[in-house]
Amino acid sequence: MSFESWEALTPADLRRRGGAKWTTYPDALGTFIAESDFGTAPAVDRAVRERVEHASFGYSTKAERDAVGTSFSGWAADRLRWHVEPAQVGVLPEVLTSLELMLDHFSEPGTPVILPTPAYMPFFTLLRDHRREVIETPLLREGDGWMFDYEAIEGAFAAGARLFMLVNPANPTGTVFTREQLLPLVDIVDRHGGRVWADEIHAPILFDGRTHVPYASLSEAAAAHTVTATSASKGWNIPGLKCSQIVFTNPADRTLWRRAGRWRAHTVGYLGLFATIAAYDEGREWLDELTTHLQGHRALLGELIAEHLPRARHVPPQATYLAWLDLRDYGITGGLQSYLLREAGVAGTDGLLCGRDFDGFYRINFATPATILEELVARLGRALPA
Ligand SMILES: Cc1ncc(COP(=O)(O)O)c(C=O)c1O
Repeated sequence: MSFESWEALTPADLRRRGGAKWTTYPDALGTFIAESDFGTAPAVDRAVRERVEHASFGYSTKAERDAVGTSFSGWAADRLRWHVEPAQVGVLPEVLTSLELMLDHFSEPGTPVILPTPAYMPFFTLLRDHRREVIETPLLREGDGWMFDYEAIEGAFAAGARLFMLVNPANPTGTVFTREQLLPLVDIVDRHGGRVWADEIHAPILFDGRTHVPYASLSEAAAAHTVTATSASKGWNIPGLKCSQIVFTNPADRTLWRRAGRWRAHTVGYLGLFATIAAYDEGREWLDELTTHLQGHRALLGELIAEHLPRARHVPPQATYLAWLDLRDYGITGGLQSYLLREAGVAGTDGLLCGRDFDGFYRINFATPATILEELVARLGRALPA
């Protein structure tokens, strides 16, 4: 299917397709989860169909899992200017599986974890499940974007934290952190003997010709204290196929991975391996088309906000397809998500789920046909007090 045909989809078509985004709230416009309505690359589609045609649904081999490393390495060299040996790359079903592994095996047990906020909602639950205290360090507004609160991060390490969670590009703000913004973190983490879990899942979709700087590529010190998690799941829209990548830039971690990751690597989705390889090897042009398309939607969203939500504050994202709306001026506190579900028929994400300081903020997803995006923002505008 082409972007033109994806754009023609209605909510009813999307509900028939199934999945969390469109069927969890069957009477509302689904915009609470980071999935795109624009399908995937033809190469990914072909790779999956080929397996389906031969009912090839068996266990994966080591060679098949290793092939993901080769593809990621090619992608990283071409698009991220990052030299990664295929042998440094492991596979896991999800980026969240990689965080669990990081908490259980690659960081000091029981120590608090530093999380810049606003942040991806499930992190909070997962950290609680692993009995890790979270030290939230809210991002600060700077110019036309956001930056880290280095002082707060330094203070959290001083208070006993040992693991810093870096999400770059950030969800939900869509910030692409620059080399200059990342470098001070290397120094802070290094001085405190800390570790970084770098979640770079959103790196494939970058707007305005931006480039992604992999944190582990910044210096030898950064490489040594970092474990990187990434996936083709956002760029090519295949989260249900369950194949993420974990990149080890510290030889000791790689040795530990052979033991700690042995069984987890087996739980990766078989079709996901081939979809991921196709994405990285043959899906780059399609990704560029998607990015251009999403950039158009970002502009449309800006116009819609100006028209229907004049009191909203919004920093246009530099990456991915999530928009972080500051709706505090509308005065709906402590339940914005349920208010908008009830009054607007829109199922977005409450800012409070992204961090304790974000009551009155709201996350939506603009990877949806333009007609749906128009209806969605108009509904928000009608439901919020003038
Ligand atoms: C920053 C971030 N990390 C992780 C995930 C989840 O990835 P996975 O489904 O591979 O666990 C998401 C999904 O939206 C995300 O935005």
